[in-house]
Amino acid sequence: MKHYLSINDIDNLSEWVAEARALKRVPKKHLSLGTEKTICLLFFNNSLRTRLSTQKAAMNLGMDVMVMNFGSEGWALEYGDGTIMDQGTSEHIKEAAQVVSQFCDIVAIRAFAKLEDKTKDEAEEVLNGFAKYTSIPIVNMESSTAHPLQALADAITLEENNSQNKPKVVLSWAPHPKALPHAVGNSFVKMMQLQDADFVITHPKGYELNPEITKGCKIEHDQEKALENADFVYVKNWSSYTDYGKVLVQDSNWMMTAQKLGNAKFMHCLPVRRNVVVEDAVLDGNQSLVIEQANNRTFSAQIVLKKILENL
Ligand code: CP
Repeated sequence: MKHYLSINDIDNLSEWVAEARALKRVPKKHLSLGTEKTICLLFFNNSLRTRLSTQKAAMNLGMDVMVMNFGSEGWALEYGDGTIMDQGTSEHIKEAAQVVSQFCDIVAIRAFAKLEDKTKDEAEEVLNGFAKYTSIPIVNMESSTAHPLQALADAITLEENNSQNKPKVVLSWAPHPKALPHAVGNSFVKMMQLQDADFVITHPKGYELNPEITKGCKIEHDQEKALENADFVYVKNWSSYTDYGKVLVQDSNWMMTAQKLGNAKFMHCLPVRRNVVVEDAVLDGNQSLVIEQANNRTFSAQIVLKKILENL
């Protein structure tokens, strides 16, 4: 594997999940694999879990780690070809990407959707800009449209907690005061399409995710109906995709409650706004998997880095 940019880079999900679980049992088993190799983590946006878990994963493989908050500390980058750079941008992606690739063996990048221009966001200019001008493997730590390290951690968490042949898994939209990107929802949907599960997406009308991604998925606008007999409920907010980047409703009736959850396990990628997205009773109850999910971020990153290192 050269890059890990999306769920499509996983050749066999169940094998990867099994390998990740084996790494979790003996995290430092491959400590020599990354010796004399360096990973550079570039953050254009904030992070807690991704930053610490990816660094931890690299350290478990014996790698050296460099971290840069590019969004606040780096030069403002230009992505357009032939631009006369007499405005706000100071450095072109062509130089920046080539320079970064001299300092490390793998580069991992976080660059969220700006939610201002769908075409620009879907062009993934940061991730694809680096992919175009670097000679080294790239790991997606959440881009405009995808969060594949999160979805792989979610797959590990599902596998660890599932006792059904074909579990019912519900992805439920929840209210949020700010406009959030679609990346987590998109990658969770793509990951669920690789699972043997009864998968249902529920959201208010107007919050349809990219139909190319949800093609073939069951969509139910009645949340109560969608949640019937669920084994796992994954809650996430996203802004409108059709009315791009807009918050259309903040209906608190969509917040996840212990009553609505029933006997299902609760999942969320975190960070989460308590008593807006989900009530305290769910997060503080024993059906919540959110802390385990966050822990599994280390092993999703570690299996990805291991596969890249084996191909260097
Ligand atoms: N879930 C997740 O990606 O968390 P951070 O934004 O804190 O990295």
